[in-house]
Amino acid sequence: MHDVPSHVAACLKDAVDAATPRFSPNDAGFARRVFDKGLAPYLERIVQYGFAGRGRVLDAGCGFGQWSLALALAGNEVDAVDIAANRVDFLTDVAGALRLPVRPAQGGIEKTPFPDATFDAVFCYGVLFLTDWKRSVAELLRVLRPGGLLYCNANGFGWYKHLWHTGHNRTPDYDPALRAARALLNTWNYHNGQPVEPGMDILITPEELAAELTARGACDIRVDGEGLLGTPAPGAEFRPFFQKEYMGDPGVYEVLAEKAAASR
Ligand SMILES: C[S@@+](CC[C@H](N)C(=O)[O-])C[C@H]1O[C@@H](n2cnc3c(N)ncnc32)[C@H](O)[C@@H]1O
Repeated sequence: MHDVPSHVAACLKDAVDAATPRFSPNDAGFARRVFDKGLAPYLERIVQYGFAGRGRVLDAGCGFGQWSLALALAGNEVDAVDIAANRVDFLTDVAGALRLPVRPAQGGIEKTPFPDATFDAVFCYGVLFLTDWKRSVAELLRVLRPGGLLYCNANGFGWYKHLWHTGHNRTPDYDPALRAARALLNTWNYHNGQPVEPGMDILITPEELAAELTARGACDIRVDGEGLLGTPAPGAEFRPFFQKEYMGDPGVYEVLAEKAAASR
């Protein structure tokens, strides 16, 4: 049984309030949404995915670190990597204040400093599609030990239809429709060997991701809508954060896989 200690919510609220002036309006809104319900929903999910008590775990693209903190509360020793220095600083402060075993570091997930097979599990939520994702898949599997567990997720075409039509989470510095349009152009560029816009989405179909994982030595690949893989704890239920489909096309989907024992 893994619980969120009672002082965690207050610490998170203080940290978000203190850090908000350092962030753009879009980032500040994201930080508030992320910690709105504390860490319980993330801890529940970590348990559901079978990530509790794995050992040494990489949170690849940790953002503000809600998953890193939940992974630590679930009995893991966590390395957390993100390209954004202000998010890494935020997580460093919070993990320190909470005395949780999380080591944040700034860097890209396409190439990390970790030796081969460093991690017992690798967790990558909401990041792959912002990177040169084929390189990232190869890197995440490189640092995972044979038999280790990988979680990642990505967005199908339905997600971009949703952004275009609904203006989901619009802020003065973030136009979801423009994001969708740029993401589609970026995807075309990625597929056609043209320069991609750094940090801009690339649409990855579930089939493409599963094929790349297989080619890079993953096995036991399971794919479903975000929040629908794994086994909820007794008495809990599946509580997705996003829809599996939007307007008839794949929305946010997730993958659980293992690194094949024979792969390097
Ligand atoms: C949508 S956020 C998700 C963050 C976190 N995993 C979560 O679930 O909230 C995407 C994150 O990916 C980070 N990111 C973007 N490109 C990256 C890269 N190449 N390597 C590492 N992190 C990257 C961003 O800085 C941002 O924190």
